[in-house]
Amino acid sequence: MIQSPLNYTGGKYRLLPQLLPLFPEQINTFVDLFCGGCNVGINVDAEHYIYNDSCSPLVRLYLVMQKLGTEKFISRVEKIIRKYHLSDVKKKGYKFYGCNSRDGLSSYNRGPYLALRNDINAATVHNEEYYIRLYVLIVYSFNNQIRFNKNGEFNLPPGKRDFNQKMQDKLRTFLDTIHQQHATFSSHDFRQMDLDGLTPDDFVYADPPYLITCASYNEQGGWSEQDERDLYALLDELSRRNIRFALSNVLESKGRKNEILKEWLEANPAYRMIELDYTYNNASYQRQNKESKTREILVINYP
Ligand SMILES: C[S@@+](CC[C@H](N)C(=O)[O-])C[C@H]1O[C@@H](n2cnc3c(N)ncnc32)[C@H](O)[C@@H]1O
Repeated sequence: MIQSPLNYTGGKYRLLPQLLPLFPEQINTFVDLFCGGCNVGINVDAEHYIYNDSCSPLVRLYLVMQKLGTEKFISRVEKIIRKYHLSDVKKKGYKFYGCNSRDGLSSYNRGPYLALRNDINAATVHNEEYYIRLYVLIVYSFNNQIRFNKNGEFNLPPGKRDFNQKMQDKLRTFLDTIHQQHATFSSHDFRQMDLDGLTPDDFVYADPPYLITCASYNEQGGWSEQDERDLYALLDELSRRNIRFALSNVLESKGRKNEILKEWLEANPAYRMIELDYTYNNASYQRQNKESKTREILVINYP
C-alpha cells in the first residue's frame, strides 16, 4: 500500500484495506473528487485518474510533482533543506542537532523553518520552486498540515519531524506511481467539476470533509449542511446516469448524528451502506471509539 508523502489530515491510508475490496474491479476513469493526500487514488487500479481538490496550492504542488522526474524533485527538496539549514536526521542523526526522537526537532528547526515560511508568505511569484518549497514547509510543519489564514499566509509552527528516511521513501514511491498513472489534476469546488463525459465504466470516489467531525483544512471555510446536500444531489445524478460511486462518511460520532446523511440513505434504499471498522490499526482511534462510538461508513450504488 502506498502512503501519501503529505501525511494528510483525514487521509484514508489506514482504512484502505477495508475500502479497496469494496471498490469495483474494473475501472476506466477513477475520479477522486476530494483527493486530499491522494491516498486513495494512488492505490486504485484504473486506466485513467482525475484527482480533484478545492485546495489549489495542494493541486499545484501535485502538478509540479507530476512534471518533474522523481530524482529531480527529491534533489530539489534536499537543496532547499540545505539552503535553509533545516535538520536532516537521515544524514546526521538527532544528536547532531541537540535533539532526540521523543521530543522531536522543532527546537532546532524553529529558526530555519520560520525563515522558509517567511519567504513562502512573501513570495509574489508562485513558480515550480515555490511549490517545492511549500512541500518542504509542509514536511517540517506541525502535524504536516497545510493551513493558510484568511490573508493567504501559511501559519503553522514547526513540527517534530523532518525529511527523514521514511518520508523520503514515501515520497519516492508516490512520485514513481504518479508518473506511471495517466492522471489529471484539478482544483475545483466539487460542484464545478465537469463530469458529463463519465460513463458506467467509470467510478467516482467522494471523501468530503465530514459534517459532524470536520477537521479544519483551512481557516477560510469548513463544510456546511448545504455542501453536504449538494454532494448528495451530485451523487444521485451520477446514479441516474448509471455511474458508480462510493462515498466515505461518518454517520455518528461523539454523540452527534449526521441526520442529513441518515435521511438521504432512507430516501435511497438502493444505495448500500457498509459499516467500516474505525478502530482499524490505530490505538488512539480505539481509545476514542470506546467512549465516542464513531460509525465510519462507505455508501455505494452498485452491487
Ligand atoms: C477527508 S479529505 C480527503 C482525504 C483523502 N481521501 C486522502 O485519503 O488523503 C477532504 C478534502 O476535501 C477538500 N475539500 C473541501 N471542500 C471541498 C469542495 N467544496 N470541493 C472540493 N474539495 C473540497 C479538502 O481540501 C480536503 O482535502
